[in-house]
Amino acid sequence: MLLPCAVLWCIILSAISLWIPAAAQNKEPYAMRISCGARDDTTTKPTNTLWYRDFGYTGGKFANATVPSFIEPPLKTLRYFPLSDGLQNCYIINNVPRGHYQVRLFFALIADPSFDSEPTFDISIDGTQIYSLKSGWSNIDEQSFVEAYVFVTDRSFTTCFHSTGHGDPSILSIEILQIDDNSYYFGPLWGKGTVLRTAKRMTCGSGKSVFDEDYGGNHWGGDRFWLGVSSFPDSGQPTSTEHNISQTSILPNFYPENLYQSAIVGDDDQPDLSFQMEVDPNKKYSVWFHLSEIDSKITGEGQRVFDILLNGDIAFENVDIIRKTGGTYAALVLNSTIEASGRTLTITFRTKPGSHAIINAIEVFEVIIAESRTLAKEVKALQNLKASLGLPRRFGWNGDPCVPQQHPWSGVDCHFDRKIVKWVIDGLGLDNQGLKGFLPNDIAKLQHLQSINFSDNSLYGGIPSSLGTIAGLQILDLSYNQLNGSIPQSLGRLMKLQILNLNGNLLSGRVPANLGGRPLHRASFNFTGNAGLCGIPGLPTCGPHLSVAVKIGIAFGVLFALLLVVLCVLIWWKRRENILRARKIAAAREAPYAKARTQFGRDVQMTKHYRPHEARNNAESGSNLLS
Ligand SMILES: *[C@@H]1O[C@H](CO)[C@@H](O)[C@H](O)[C@H]1NC(C)=O
Ligand SMILES: *[C@@H]1O[C@H](CO)[C@@H](O)[C@H](O)[C@H]1NC(C)=O
Ligand SMILES: *[C@@H]1O[C@H](CO)[C@@H](O)[C@H](O)[C@H]1NC(C)=O
Ligand SMILES: *[C@@H]1O[C@H](CO)[C@@H](O)[C@H](O)[C@H]1NC(C)=O
Ligand SMILES: *[C@@H]1O[C@H](CO)[C@@H](O)[C@H](O)[C@H]1NC(C)=O
Ligand SMILES: *[C@@H]1O[C@H](CO)[C@@H](O)[C@H](O)[C@H]1NC(C)=O
Repeated sequence: MLLPCAVLWCIILSAISLWIPAAAQNKEPYAMRISCGARDDTTTKPTNTLWYRDFGYTGGKFANATVPSFIEPPLKTLRYFPLSDGLQNCYIINNVPRGHYQVRLFFALIADPSFDSEPTFDISIDGTQIYSLKSGWSNIDEQSFVEAYVFVTDRSFTTCFHSTGHGDPSILSIEILQIDDNSYYFGPLWGKGTVLRTAKRMTCGSGKSVFDEDYGGNHWGGDRFWLGVSSFPDSGQPTSTEHNISQTSILPNFYPENLYQSAIVGDDDQPDLSFQMEVDPNKKYSVWFHLSEIDSKITGEGQRVFDILLNGDIAFENVDIIRKTGGTYAALVLNSTIEASGRTLTITFRTKPGSHAIINAIEVFEVIIAESRTLAKEVKALQNLKASLGLPRRFGWNGDPCVPQQHPWSGVDCHFDRKIVKWVIDGLGLDNQGLKGFLPNDIAKLQHLQSINFSDNSLYGGIPSSLGTIAGLQILDLSYNQLNGSIPQSLGRLMKLQILNLNGNLLSGRVPANLGGRPLHRASFNFTGNAGLCGIPGLPTCGPHLSVAVKIGIAFGVLFALLLVVLCVLIWWKRRENILRARKIAAAREAPYAKARTQFGRDVQMTKHYRPHEARNNAESGSNLLS
């Protein structure tokens, strides 16, 4: 992920990131232009445009660029994202004032003979996919960039490039240009939930394309590129004037005067005009027409009247420019929205008898409904998880985890919560990924999780007890890792838990009692193959659970008992000594008796020898009593 807040940048950004109300037109709009892969800030001709370098940011690689089209800004480097950097890579630009923005991204080819193929990839802005590059883009002027109109509401702007397996995304430049808050209002769909992607923008009658600073127009109009078209493929003639045009460069779009000084007009042979372009079926398009009466032969109302049709349906009927603007050499802007049913959009200017059609410029935008984002708290928790699991770069956990829906983060399952109108995370599947990290406590901020599978990695440390707060958790598979410590009691509170695999770890201690009984309720729990778990059927019984005080008590007790035994032995020994001494004294007094008794004693022993079986039984019963 690229974090553009290098020290220098942050200073630049905070210096100019004041909130500029659109009404304050005398102030300059916010403009951020990045020359990707550049080592130094540069300025380009003819308008002395400043481009910031992105050298020193992490992620991607830089290379010299082959600029495929004359339209592109004359920049020499690009940044590209090989597959080892993950499937999505993003630029995040912070401290962008809230407002409406024109965003333009240029692509280029890597100037290296070993990279001869043209990459195709997807582009998203703030979680909404706005375009998929089509193969052949590098041969078509208009397709080497993508441009969109977006609102920035949280002072942060993110654009991501999503690999589709066809080469490494390679980016030449990024431009974020503030425009008037109300620009391109096209009807009720317009607003913060909508993105407009420029599908076509052309200036008619002048064969010259205009790039850089929108004909030198007002910066609040953005920096539009106008493709020059002198006639349509099978209709129209170019015409132009030097005459000043009124009602140009006004709020909210600030269309430049030059735009209206040339046009394509019909002639006597073919008074109607018609233009076709390729579109995506079932998408909405906002079509804008720029008109001005610049033919000196037309001087009043009713002299040029025509209908404008979109795919055969009348969008504007009986258009009479002079009637609408009140005179010649005045600008008229019309817009209409159409849903494409097929792959072509046909625009027809159908004249009334005796007049010829005219058109000065056309803009076509794809209307894209912006995606809802992922709950911010959960994005943050996933970013922490990424760090503590030591997720390799190839995972590309950049941008938003769930959107664009075409490109969710790998290993993350998402669910749209209609109540909060946000995406939430309901599954994590990072099994068998060679992860060597630990489970952070704030994994529990992913409160919508239903399933976790981290099986077969090398995760170490304990099982966070916070997991017990994820009430909806149904599957927790942490098997075959190196997790140690005991199973947190809190897991016993997970009433929905159906599968709990903790086998093949280094866990020890007692399995929480309220987990132990659960398998009876058709849940499947596995605790085998651990260092020392105990306490449920199938595992060893646990030793008595004793507190330290009790243990000290027992130690004292044992010591006391030992002392007692020693004392007894001492007493017995003393007593025996006394008896022996008494016998000696007695023997000394009556020697003959003593001798007779000795004889008797020997007889008894001999009797025993004669009955060995009985003797063994006696010995055994004796030892039994002792034990
Ligand atoms: C880009 O081209 C310049 C010469 O124009 C060369 O010095 C430099 O090494 C090249 N950079 C890369 C990354 O190929
Ligand atoms: C575009 O068309 C809509 C609907 O017809 C209209 O309300 C709006 O004012 C037009 N926008 C401009 C800038 O003329
Ligand atoms: C056109 O407008 C410019 C100022 O924008 C002015 O200097 C010039 O005289 C005008 N030309 C005509 C023919 O009115
Ligand atoms: C978790 O992943 C492992 C390894 O890929 C797999 O064998 C296991 O069935 C999964 N666990 C669950 C509960 O699906
Ligand atoms: C778990 O293992 C880590 C090292 O991976 C060690 O620092 C920690 O003390 C162990 N914890 C327990 C309870 O054994
Ligand atoms: C539990 O895991 C062990 C391997 O650690 C496996 O042999 C056993 O079949 C598993 N038991 C169940 C009920 O899945």
